[in-house]
Amino acid sequence: MAEMFKDLDPNTMPRSPGLTYQDLLDQDTHEVPEVLRMESPKDVGLEDFSKDRYISRDYHEKEVQNLWMKVWQMACREEEIPEPGDHLRYDIAGRSFLIVRQLDKSIKAYPNACLHRGRMLKEFDGHASEIRCAFHGFAWELDGCLKDVPARWDFPQIKDEEFSLPEIPVATWAGFVFINPDQDCEPFEPFIKDLAEQFERWDLGSLYIQAHVARVMPCNWKIAQEAFCEAYHVNGTHPQIMRSLGDVNSQVDVWENCSRVITPGGTASPLLDYDMTDEDILRAMMDIPVDQPVPPIPSNMNARAFLAAASREGLRPEAGDRVDEYCDAEIVDSIDYTQFPNFHPWGAFNKIVYRFRPNGDDHRTSIMECYQLMPFQGERPPAAPMTWIEPDQKWSTVYGFLGRVFDQDVFNMPKVQWGLESTYKAGVTLSGYQEGKVRWLHHKLTEWVGE
Ligand code: FES
Ligand SMILES: [Fe+2]
Repeated sequence: MAEMFKDLDPNTMPRSPGLTYQDLLDQDTHEVPEVLRMESPKDVGLEDFSKDRYISRDYHEKEVQNLWMKVWQMACREEEIPEPGDHLRYDIAGRSFLIVRQLDKSIKAYPNACLHRGRMLKEFDGHASEIRCAFHGFAWELDGCLKDVPARWDFPQIKDEEFSLPEIPVATWAGFVFINPDQDCEPFEPFIKDLAEQFERWDLGSLYIQAHVARVMPCNWKIAQEAFCEAYHVNGTHPQIMRSLGDVNSQVDVWENCSRVITPGGTASPLLDYDMTDEDILRAMMDIPVDQPVPPIPSNMNARAFLAAASREGLRPEAGDRVDEYCDAEIVDSIDYTQFPNFHPWGAFNKIVYRFRPNGDDHRTSIMECYQLMPFQGERPPAAPMTWIEPDQKWSTVYGFLGRVFDQDVFNMPKVQWGLESTYKAGVTLSGYQEGKVRWLHHKLTEWVGE
């Protein structure tokens, strides 16, 4: 990374007028954890990136070979395959892999393909005592050793010990299962190191899947992903939340394999050309009509602290008294991490995780997923199964908490694809700081995929 991006000095780099994110942290009513005090601004350049990255078949094919077939990627949650024999099909860019819980509770992954004539081994997620192909009945043990060949006498060339299912690397972090299709890949630990360090305080492994929704999006996977990688679009796409969101106060940090954008809540956008009182901010945040009263804000609190205090009480039944350790920023801010290439856990207690990937081998459509992870007391509740929504269905109809804001983001996506297919301009132009996470992604893509 040191070679790739130069450090910037947070005190002298160009930034929005008004409060910085760190200024807001100084006003927090609780102790602010070190992870939010960190700043890692980088010089990510000012160049355009080619539109081919979104529209060209050739680029997609390079991406499949050089990225998706080589990179560590989140395949599922451990809780989706809790028992020995539980298996899950993970598809990426027209390839399929089978993730299997072993008798000793470890996890193995195999290309989802029979070693006889290649049929996909499992079409559906489920539970089995063996891995048997539905075509001619070849079977393997859960650990991949050959178990059964019908009419064994007719395959004298097969040596059992050489006919195990090939394994691909598997690793786990915070309840997530990662796979790498490349059997000679780099180890997982250095790949996840920065993200893992920053999430030490926010243990995603202690949460369970309360909801998991997927939809096919009419755009390249990066268009969908990038819509959630900056807050600069708030003024154009979500003007209704500018009164309670410090969009351009966002802090953007870049590390080697992960980056983050932190956007403060409970504070008004510096782009507004009128002043907002704390009462106005609270009214906006809580969507209280102008003819109705706003709850009184104690004199020792601003809107941000008041919202945090109310949310802390809202979280207490599920999360317990741990909530007293959560600072205001952890409760009201959007702390949006991306682990290269496509894994998006929100930091702190936002509970949302996104994943974006190509839809099969089609580079003009993608699969977007949202997990909602929740704390629980006592026994782990069963993981909610993944629900597919229709391509024209609004997310807010199934995933209410994301509401209108999320539908507004999604509304743009096919129009961006259309625009990029139509434009006479060679590339996309990005801001130097606020869209730094999008820049980071494209520098990483250059490193992995090429120009
Ligand atoms: S293709 Fe699987 S048993 Fe024949
Ligand atoms: Fe948005």
